[in-house]
Amino acid sequence: MTTIGVFTSGGDAPGMNACLRAVVRYAISRGCRVVGIRRGYEGMLAGEVEELDAQSVSGIVQLGGTVLKTARCAEFYHEAGRARAAAVLREAGIEGLVAIGGDGTFRGAHRLAEEHGVAVIGVPGTIDNDVWGTDATIGFDTAVNTALEAVDRLRDTATSHDRVFFVEVMGRQAGFIALAVGMADGAEIILVPEIETSPRRIWETIAAGIARGKRSFIAVVAEGDEQGGAFEIARKVQSYGDVECRVTVLGHILRGGRPTARDRLLASRLGAAAVEALLEGASDKMAGIAADRVALTPLPETWGRRKELDRGLYELAGILAR
Ligand code: F6P
Repeated sequence: MTTIGVFTSGGDAPGMNACLRAVVRYAISRGCRVVGIRRGYEGMLAGEVEELDAQSVSGIVQLGGTVLKTARCAEFYHEAGRARAAAVLREAGIEGLVAIGGDGTFRGAHRLAEEHGVAVIGVPGTIDNDVWGTDATIGFDTAVNTALEAVDRLRDTATSHDRVFFVEVMGRQAGFIALAVGMADGAEIILVPEIETSPRRIWETIAAGIARGKRSFIAVVAEGDEQGGAFEIARKVQSYGDVECRVTVLGHILRGGRPTARDRLLASRLGAAAVEALLEGASDKMAGIAADRVALTPLPETWGRRKELDRGLYELAGILAR
């Protein structure tokens, strides 16, 4: 394997640059040439490729976002689009591909492997942490710490005004960010799509807290919660009793920022592992971390199997917040 391609795709995540740096420098250390593909599958279709050397990734380990940029690409869902992409890879002499992204990225990478025999290894780069086959995804730790900084600040003003703050965090259809942030802040209420609740039960939790002497509350709401977003839930809960509610939606703030050490280390390990896997002849797999060891998982399983939220941790968070 002499030429390896690398790209970032899907929602950007802090740590993607650290991963790119590891792919480039580790591949070069193993005697390979590296080609960067800009703007994800969109750029692949447009032939936006450029050779990368060790200096190309200098000074980026600490940067959020992705210097290769990313894009969501509808055309790639069609076979003709994927055929064009495979032709671009062939023209660029790319013999192996590292795809850094989430499940949408991996679905496209799997198609490239299946339809065009492209050797591809995925690396889980998404703040959602909703990828099977890895204990953590690149960007999750940073997003949790970014959200925690905000929620701790909201706790100050909630306490000053005896208010209930509903704070909405990202996570698409998963509650991993909400549970981690909620537990770390001691949030009295954590609303996730995996666990059914109701405005009445939320109100009952607040009323019970007031009866025990609590005067302010933090409710962390995963954006995918079945009750709707934080504004909708706050409106419904406020109708049950005499409490003052406020809402903050953290949104894309959670996608930015300097990656934490944990994310940089995870990104570096997985970027190098992806290159090594390609050199060993692996393909159509994701390089993830399981019990602190690198593990390869068939790409279809990474989105086909659902990573379960730790319900024991969810229950413990509720007990500790009483
Ligand atoms: O998948 C990462 C993510 O940040 C999700 O948590 C969020 O729902 C989605 O991307 C937002 O997508 P976009 O950046 O395209 O609005």
